[in-house]
Amino acid sequence: MKIVVTGGAGFIGSNFLTRFVPQHPEHGFVNLDKLTYAANLRSLESIAEAPNYSLARIDLADAAAVDAFFESEKPQMVVHFAAESHVDRSIVGPRAFVDSNILGTFNLLEACRKHWPRGEGLLHHVSTDEVYGSLGPTGLFTEDSRYDPSSPYSASKAASDHLVRAYHRTYGLPTKITNCSNNYGPRQFPEKLIPLMIMNALEGKPLPVYGAGVNVRDWLYVDDHCEAIWKVIERGRVGETYNIGGRGERKNIDVVNAICGVLAEATQRPVASFTRLITFVADRPGHDQRYAIDASRIDAECGWAPRETFESGLRKTVRWYLDNPRWIEDVRSGEYLKWIDRNYGQRTGN
Ligand code: NAD
Ligand code: DAU
Repeated sequence: MKIVVTGGAGFIGSNFLTRFVPQHPEHGFVNLDKLTYAANLRSLESIAEAPNYSLARIDLADAAAVDAFFESEKPQMVVHFAAESHVDRSIVGPRAFVDSNILGTFNLLEACRKHWPRGEGLLHHVSTDEVYGSLGPTGLFTEDSRYDPSSPYSASKAASDHLVRAYHRTYGLPTKITNCSNNYGPRQFPEKLIPLMIMNALEGKPLPVYGAGVNVRDWLYVDDHCEAIWKVIERGRVGETYNIGGRGERKNIDVVNAICGVLAEATQRPVASFTRLITFVADRPGHDQRYAIDASRIDAECGWAPRETFESGLRKTVRWYLDNPRWIEDVRSGEYLKWIDRNYGQRTGN
């Protein structure tokens, strides 16, 4: 089968491809990616030469390019990861989020509708629990929770979810949606909490915690997320939505302290050499208080549950960053962006 993976050069997409390309030589995987600042081709080094993998640099906001790509590749399945993904960036500059997440998903849906006129394909849309807004101290998000997004990012993801559902109901397009909690693990760009704290701590820089550090996120190891998506593709019902969560609720300050503890153990340095870097800074505007997922539907219907605990996943993550200094150095120096420029011409990214 020809499977298009959008956003395959980003954090979750690259973990998905580096796992499933070698595992499934019977499928061809095409990575459709705009290669923005968040993409890193070094993350795909292990599969770059695989016979069942290729890369196409395309901006989903470019309808003609997406249509031409479908015309030539004739995909049978699309796993749609591509998006602007960082909440703080969406607060500073929301336009790119409307272009990539709403218009980009719309263009993809139009291409699927045109090229799969008899409903012969499958579009798997990867979304977020942030579409449900914020929880109070108790309760969990279910697939029936009301949409109530707080940030331009989550509003753009909510819009994309609504479009995907509408194309299923109106045109019979075969779609599935997964809404997932916070991912962490190898290859995550260091603008997100966990890799930012790991890299800053190793450099002796401040560890900026928003507000009082009491906001709660439900952490999921990225490999568990990739496995969940594959299970929904194989076993989930068409037209259905599945929530994915890690049973890993933690306050931000506890996450940062845990990172300091794992780093201290791994580097044989006193934990205080890291915890003294913790700095409380101004809160994020519209900061959602708490996310937590009820993942009982995906468990019951697809037989999925997370394998990693937060502690085991965090140890693996810290180890990966310690063992991959070239990846870190490229990100720090911007070398990976220069490589994209050299090999793909003028960046269209932001
Ligand atoms: P990321 O920012 O690391 O990567 C996004 C990728 O999409 C990049 O490779 C980028 O180049 C590509 N992209 C962006 N705009 C594009 C466009 N217009 N056309 C083509 N490609 C484009 O993101 P991520 O953290 O890997 O997230 C992947 C998906 O999972 C997103 O849809 C996100 O909303 C969702 N999600 C993420 C998390 C998380 O914790 N990271 C949790 C739940 C859901
Ligand atoms: O819940 C799923 C979402 O998780 C995904 O849809 C998003 O793509 C992903 O970015 C993530 O969003 P968050 O805003 O929760 O993740 P982030 O890593 O930016 O922040 C996690 C928590 O840590 C949040 O409460 C804000 C806080 N934070 C973040 C940063 C970057 C800090 O305290 N300090 C920081 O420097």
